[in-house]
Amino acid sequence: MKFFIDTANLAQIKEANDLGILDGVTTNPSLMAKEGIKGEAAIMKHYKDICEMVDGDVSAEVFSTDFAGIIEEGQKLAAIHPNIVVKVPMIKDGVKAIKWFTENNIRTNCTLIFSAGQAILAAKAGASYLSPFLGRIDDSNWDGIQLIEQIRHIYDVQGFRTEILAASIRNALHIVRAAEAGADICTCPLDSILGLLKHPLTDIGLAKFLEDAKKTEG
Ligand code: G3P
Repeated sequence: MKFFIDTANLAQIKEANDLGILDGVTTNPSLMAKEGIKGEAAIMKHYKDICEMVDGDVSAEVFSTDFAGIIEEGQKLAAIHPNIVVKVPMIKDGVKAIKWFTENNIRTNCTLIFSAGQAILAAKAGASYLSPFLGRIDDSNWDGIQLIEQIRHIYDVQGFRTEILAASIRNALHIVRAAEAGADICTCPLDSILGLLKHPLTDIGLAKFLEDAKKTEG
Protein backbone atom coordinates (compact mmCIF):
# COMPACT_ATOMS: atom_id res chain seq x y z
CA MET A 1 0.00 0.00 0.00
CA LYS A 2 1.19 3.47 -0.89
CA PHE A 3 1.25 6.37 1.60
CA PHE A 4 0.24 9.88 0.62
CA ILE A 5 0.09 12.85 2.98
CA ASP A 6 -3.16 14.83 3.01
CA THR A 7 -1.99 18.41 3.53
CA ALA A 8 -0.76 21.53 1.76
CA ASN A 9 1.59 22.36 4.65
CA LEU A 10 5.17 22.29 3.34
CA ALA A 11 6.77 21.62 6.75
CA GLN A 12 4.53 18.59 7.32
CA ILE A 13 5.15 17.32 3.79
CA LYS A 14 8.90 17.62 4.42
CA GLU A 15 8.65 15.79 7.75
CA ALA A 16 6.74 12.88 6.20
CA ASN A 17 9.05 12.82 3.18
CA ASP A 18 12.11 12.73 5.44
CA LEU A 19 10.75 9.53 7.01
CA GLY A 20 11.36 7.92 3.61
CA ILE A 21 7.91 6.37 3.34
CA LEU A 22 6.03 9.01 1.36
CA ASP A 23 4.66 8.13 -2.09
CA GLY A 24 2.64 11.28 -2.83
CA VAL A 25 0.54 14.21 -1.63
CA THR A 26 -3.14 15.10 -1.79
CA THR A 27 -4.63 18.54 -1.25
CA ASN A 28 -8.07 20.08 -1.47
CA PRO A 29 -9.42 23.66 -1.45
CA SER A 30 -9.88 23.56 2.35
CA LEU A 31 -6.27 22.47 2.90
CA MET A 32 -4.96 25.19 0.52
CA ALA A 33 -7.08 27.84 2.30
CA LYS A 34 -5.73 26.64 5.67
CA GLU A 35 -2.20 27.50 4.47
CA GLY A 36 -3.34 30.97 3.35
CA ILE A 37 -2.56 30.29 -0.35
CA LYS A 38 -4.51 32.86 -2.39
CA GLY A 39 -4.75 33.56 -6.12
CA GLU A 40 -3.91 31.50 -9.19
CA ALA A 41 -0.19 32.40 -9.30
CA ALA A 42 0.33 31.50 -5.63
CA ILE A 43 -1.61 28.25 -6.02
CA MET A 44 0.44 27.22 -9.08
CA LYS A 45 3.70 28.05 -7.27
CA HIS A 46 2.65 26.09 -4.20
CA TYR A 47 1.94 22.97 -6.28
CA LYS A 48 5.29 23.39 -8.06
CA ASP A 49 7.06 23.60 -4.68
CA ILE A 50 5.31 20.43 -3.48
CA CYS A 51 6.20 18.58 -6.70
CA GLU A 52 9.84 19.56 -6.29
CA MET A 53 9.87 18.28 -2.68
CA VAL A 54 8.23 14.88 -3.18
CA ASP A 55 8.99 12.21 -5.77
CA GLY A 56 5.40 11.04 -6.29
CA ASP A 57 1.94 12.01 -7.44
CA VAL A 58 0.45 15.28 -6.19
CA SER A 59 -3.33 15.71 -6.37
CA ALA A 60 -4.38 19.29 -7.21
CA GLU A 61 -8.11 19.97 -7.01
CA VAL A 62 -10.08 22.09 -9.48
CA PHE A 63 -12.39 24.78 -8.07
CA SER A 64 -14.72 24.82 -11.11
CA THR A 65 -17.91 22.77 -11.21
CA ASP A 66 -18.81 23.15 -14.92
CA PHE A 67 -17.30 20.99 -17.67
CA ALA A 68 -15.50 23.81 -19.54
CA GLY A 69 -14.12 25.30 -16.34
CA ILE A 70 -12.90 21.93 -15.00
CA ILE A 71 -11.12 21.19 -18.30
CA GLU A 72 -9.46 24.62 -18.47
CA GLU A 73 -8.33 24.50 -14.84
CA GLY A 74 -7.26 20.85 -15.05
CA GLN A 75 -5.09 21.50 -18.10
CA LYS A 76 -3.34 24.38 -16.32
CA LEU A 77 -2.74 22.25 -13.23
CA ALA A 78 -1.49 19.28 -15.24
CA ALA A 79 0.99 21.55 -17.04
CA ILE A 80 2.72 22.47 -13.75
CA HIS A 81 4.54 19.12 -13.41
CA PRO A 82 4.25 15.55 -14.77
CA ASN A 83 3.40 14.31 -11.24
CA ILE A 84 0.26 16.44 -10.96
CA VAL A 85 -2.99 14.48 -10.82
CA VAL A 86 -6.12 16.58 -11.41
CA LYS A 87 -8.60 16.13 -8.56
CA VAL A 88 -12.20 16.36 -9.74
CA PRO A 89 -15.40 16.19 -7.65
CA MET A 90 -17.98 13.43 -8.17
CA ILE A 91 -20.58 15.51 -9.99
CA LYS A 92 -22.10 15.12 -13.47
CA ASP A 93 -19.72 17.56 -15.17
CA GLY A 94 -16.88 16.07 -13.13
CA VAL A 95 -17.52 12.60 -14.54
CA LYS A 96 -17.64 14.05 -18.10
CA ALA A 97 -14.39 15.88 -17.42
CA ILE A 98 -12.68 12.75 -16.03
CA LYS A 99 -13.58 10.95 -19.27
CA TRP A 100 -12.14 13.86 -21.29
CA PHE A 101 -8.94 13.92 -19.20
CA THR A 102 -8.59 10.13 -19.59
CA GLU A 103 -8.83 10.45 -23.38
CA ASN A 104 -6.26 13.24 -23.30
CA ASN A 105 -3.75 11.39 -21.09
CA ILE A 106 -4.26 13.57 -18.02
CA ARG A 107 -4.48 11.57 -14.80
CA THR A 108 -7.34 12.22 -12.36
CA ASN A 109 -8.38 11.65 -8.77
CA CYS A 110 -12.17 11.53 -8.36
CA THR A 111 -12.98 12.99 -4.96
CA LEU A 112 -15.92 13.22 -2.55
CA ILE A 113 -16.80 9.54 -2.92
CA PHE A 114 -19.39 8.19 -0.47
CA SER A 115 -20.98 5.24 -2.31
CA ALA A 116 -20.16 2.19 -4.44
CA GLY A 117 -22.30 3.60 -7.27
CA GLN A 118 -20.12 6.70 -7.43
CA ALA A 119 -17.05 4.45 -7.42
CA ILE A 120 -18.35 2.53 -10.45
CA LEU A 121 -19.07 5.74 -12.36
CA ALA A 122 -15.61 7.17 -11.66
CA ALA A 123 -13.92 3.94 -12.76
CA LYS A 124 -16.02 3.80 -15.96
CA ALA A 125 -14.86 7.33 -16.78
CA GLY A 126 -11.26 6.17 -16.33
CA ALA A 127 -10.27 7.91 -13.09
CA SER A 128 -6.70 7.03 -12.07
CA TYR A 129 -7.55 7.36 -8.37
CA LEU A 130 -10.78 7.23 -6.39
CA SER A 131 -11.07 9.00 -3.01
CA PRO A 132 -13.68 7.53 -0.64
CA PHE A 133 -13.90 9.72 2.50
CA LEU A 134 -13.64 7.20 5.36
CA GLY A 135 -13.73 9.63 8.29
CA ARG A 136 -16.68 11.63 7.03
CA ILE A 137 -18.63 8.40 6.40
CA ASP A 138 -17.89 7.23 9.96
CA ASP A 139 -18.94 10.67 11.24
CA SER A 140 -22.35 10.09 9.62
CA ASN A 141 -22.82 6.74 11.41
CA TRP A 142 -22.05 4.72 8.28
CA ASP A 143 -19.10 2.34 7.95
CA GLY A 144 -16.26 3.81 5.87
CA ILE A 145 -14.21 0.61 5.93
CA GLN A 146 -17.17 -1.42 4.69
CA LEU A 147 -17.37 0.92 1.70
CA ILE A 148 -13.67 0.37 0.90
CA GLU A 149 -14.24 -3.41 1.07
CA GLN A 150 -17.26 -3.13 -1.25
CA ILE A 151 -15.39 -1.01 -3.80
CA ARG A 152 -12.36 -3.34 -3.64
CA HIS A 153 -14.66 -6.30 -4.39
CA ILE A 154 -16.40 -4.55 -7.29
CA TYR A 155 -13.15 -3.33 -8.86
CA ASP A 156 -11.59 -6.82 -8.60
CA VAL A 157 -14.65 -8.61 -9.99
CA GLN A 158 -15.05 -6.11 -12.83
CA GLY A 159 -11.36 -5.59 -13.55
CA PHE A 160 -11.46 -1.81 -13.03
CA ARG A 161 -7.93 -0.41 -12.77
CA THR A 162 -8.76 2.77 -10.83
CA GLU A 163 -6.70 2.82 -7.62
CA ILE A 164 -8.58 3.11 -4.33
CA LEU A 165 -7.18 6.02 -2.33
CA ALA A 166 -8.62 5.92 1.19
CA ALA A 167 -9.09 9.57 2.25
CA SER A 168 -10.44 11.51 5.21
CA ILE A 169 -8.26 9.39 7.49
CA ARG A 170 -8.58 10.39 11.14
CA ASN A 171 -6.21 8.05 12.98
CA ALA A 172 -3.64 5.28 12.69
CA LEU A 173 -6.29 2.56 13.09
CA HIS A 174 -8.02 3.86 9.96
CA ILE A 175 -4.76 3.26 8.05
CA VAL A 176 -4.47 -0.31 9.33
CA ARG A 177 -8.14 -1.07 8.56
CA ALA A 178 -7.89 0.50 5.09
CA ALA A 179 -4.80 -1.64 4.40
CA GLU A 180 -6.73 -4.75 5.49
CA ALA A 181 -9.69 -3.78 3.31
CA GLY A 182 -7.45 -3.59 0.23
CA ALA A 183 -7.04 0.16 -0.33
CA ASP A 184 -4.21 0.80 -2.78
CA ILE A 185 -3.26 4.05 -1.08
CA CYS A 186 -3.99 5.86 2.18
CA THR A 187 -3.79 9.63 2.24
CA CYS A 188 -3.30 10.70 5.82
CA PRO A 189 -2.63 13.71 8.02
CA LEU A 190 0.91 13.66 9.47
CA ASP A 191 -0.43 12.82 12.97
CA SER A 192 -2.07 9.63 11.71
CA ILE A 193 1.13 8.52 9.97
CA LEU A 194 3.15 9.19 13.13
CA GLY A 195 0.43 7.43 15.14
CA LEU A 196 1.53 4.18 13.50
CA LEU A 197 4.78 4.41 15.46
CA LYS A 198 3.10 4.35 18.84
CA HIS A 199 2.83 1.43 21.22
CA PRO A 200 3.29 1.74 25.01
CA LEU A 201 5.15 -1.60 25.17
CA THR A 202 7.69 -0.24 22.67
CA ASP A 203 8.32 2.74 24.98
CA ILE A 204 8.54 0.53 28.10
CA GLY A 205 10.77 -1.97 26.29
CA LEU A 206 13.11 0.71 24.98
CA ALA A 207 13.40 2.35 28.43
CA LYS A 208 14.42 -1.04 29.89
CA PHE A 209 16.93 -1.69 27.08
CA LEU A 210 18.50 1.73 27.59
CA GLU A 211 18.68 1.17 31.36
CA ASP A 212 20.32 -2.23 30.84
CA ALA A 213 22.64 -0.82 28.16
CA LYS A 214 24.15 1.42 30.87
CA LYS A 215 25.09 -1.74 32.83
CA THR A 216 27.16 -2.93 29.89
CA GLU A 217 29.26 0.26 29.73
CA GLY A 218 32.92 -0.48 30.31
O1 G3P B 1 -8.50 15.35 0.91
C1 G3P B 1 -9.76 14.89 1.15
C2 G3P B 1 -10.02 14.31 2.52
O2 G3P B 1 -8.92 13.60 2.95
C3 G3P B 1 -10.59 15.27 3.53
O3 G3P B 1 -10.44 14.83 4.85
O4 G3P B 1 -10.54 15.18 7.31
O5 G3P B 1 -11.49 16.93 5.76
O6 G3P B 1 -12.65 14.76 6.08
P1 G3P B 1 -11.33 15.46 6.06
